[in-house]
Amino acid sequence: MRSVLSLFTTIQYPKTLAAILLAGGVALAVSACSSSTAATGISPQIMADSLHAVMAADRTVYTKKVVNRLVKEDKVIKASEHWQDEKALPLPAQMFRFGAEMVAEQGAPFSYSLLSLWPINKQNAPKTDVEKEGLTFTVDNPGQNFYKEEVLGGVKYFTAVYPDPAVAPACVECHNEHKDTPKSDFKIGDVMGGVVIRIPLQS
Ligand code: HEC
Repeated sequence: MRSVLSLFTTIQYPKTLAAILLAGGVALAVSACSSSTAATGISPQIMADSLHAVMAADRTVYTKKVVNRLVKEDKVIKASEHWQDEKALPLPAQMFRFGAEMVAEQGAPFSYSLLSLWPINKQNAPKTDVEKEGLTFTVDNPGQNFYKEEVLGGVKYFTAVYPDPAVAPACVECHNEHKDTPKSDFKIGDVMGGVVIRIPLQS
């Protein structure tokens, strides 16, 4: 009986200790986290850059692992702007827009879009002065991002614009030949548009 009890305590003791340590650790982590947030917060640029990294990765993964593999390598399906009628894969830019629209529907505090000064889909034209300025900046300064604050409807926002370059011949070919494009002389490497991310700032 005694040995059972001592076995019980030896098993329980480390567990209790672990629980106390864990709870303490969590409390410490939470307090460290909240105090550092209170002291510094996360900068809107780090927030925007991080969101952009996820968006860019998802778009590349969809393009390479879904579209290019099934269309070019396995040749089992095509990708088309009219994906519903043609039972095809949506284009990467459409997938991107559908995601952005769903985020907006869910009432997320930030918004994003893939825009261009020469949009195939007029919905993807810049609407604010800062969007136009940012898209122009990324075309004139290849490889550089653009960051600026703007006030819309009385709310101050941090707006980031990331260049979207023509990384493959397909980008240029499809856009230059599209019936709705306002520009048909894109070259490989050109900045064709940009990802705009807008985060509200508390003032
Ligand atoms: C097969 C045709 C096709 C290919 C390939 C293609 N696009 Fe597009 N792209 C489109 C269409 C169609 C839209 C409009 C999508 C929508 O409805 O929002 C679009 C939208 C865009 C937009 C938003 C502005 C606009 O024109 O509406 C940008 C920027 C863009 N594409 C850049 C690229 C880049 C960069 C590549 C290569 C990595 C690329 N596209 C490849 C057809 C294509």
